[in-house]
Amino acid sequence: MAEAGLERWKGKVALVTGASSGIGRATAVALARAGLKLALAARRGERLDALGRELAQGGAAVAAFPTDLRQPPAVLALFEAIRARWSGVDVLVSSAGLGLDAPLAEGKVEDWQELLALNVLAAALCMREAVRDMEARGGGCIVNVSSLTAHIVMRNSAFYSATKHALRALTEGLQKELGARGSPVRVGMVSPGGVTTEFRELAARGRVGTTLRVPAYTPLAAEDIADLVCFMLSRPPRVQIDDVILRGVGQMF
Ligand SMILES: NC(=O)c1ccc[n+]([C@@H]2O[C@H](COP(=O)([O-])OP(=O)(O)OC[C@H]3O[C@@H](n4cnc5c(N)ncnc54)[C@H](OP(=O)(O)O)[C@@H]3O)[C@@H](O)[C@H]2O)c1
Repeated sequence: MAEAGLERWKGKVALVTGASSGIGRATAVALARAGLKLALAARRGERLDALGRELAQGGAAVAAFPTDLRQPPAVLALFEAIRARWSGVDVLVSSAGLGLDAPLAEGKVEDWQELLALNVLAAALCMREAVRDMEARGGGCIVNVSSLTAHIVMRNSAFYSATKHALRALTEGLQKELGARGSPVRVGMVSPGGVTTEFRELAARGRVGTTLRVPAYTPLAAEDIADLVCFMLSRPPRVQIDDVILRGVGQMF
């Protein structure tokens, strides 16, 4: 069923941020399989190039755009480069994000600035630029990769959670703006619990002598989130899925 609905995106242009790893990478693979043209963004260009080669072998049109999304001019340059190549984007999957597992009371301002720059400001700027393209092209779909922590706050990840709460507010706010002007652009987000990616090791870099004890559970796979993004895209244009919370069976928080 999802495959049938995805057909309508064949030949359209998707920008996937965070495509060098984890959820972004898995989503890029799934969208390339569905016949979309793929603009891949993240900092590690060699990984994007390797993924680009892999997808091109399967017949996909792919372009890698190594970008540090924490820099607003770099985000604008990314969109300009895509416009120069393919005239703009029809789909945005915003997956680039950083975690931080550290107590707020001992937090570092530099860490908070980095989280805000990537998880909030870059995501907002990508949404703004994508809407411009999508409205000019007659429609489109934005899916922000948020988190279960957009809905709950866990001990030792308050600041990360604040950025995902902010992303939820931005997603809902944009939906309302677009709805008010009858825009054909759909906006939604996905809110996963634990997913097996590099994210967890990176998040732990901020740990300050504490260990978060949580019951064992089976985390989701990155492909589970990619499947969900494809399902959201596959719905008819009248259907906007606001948010889906998903977690591995046994994840109790
Ligand atoms: N894994 C989980 O348990 C989990 C749970 C809920 C939500 N999420 C969310 O899922 C999203 C994807 O995370 P993931 O689990 O797939 O982790 P991941 O494997 O670590 O992927 C993170 C991606 O973000 C990119 N990125 C980081 N800093 C960047 C920067 N400054 N500029 C451009 N790209 C940057 C990374 O690429 P480069 O390093 O090459 O730049 C990488 O492609 C994040 O938004 C995260 O908050 C993850």
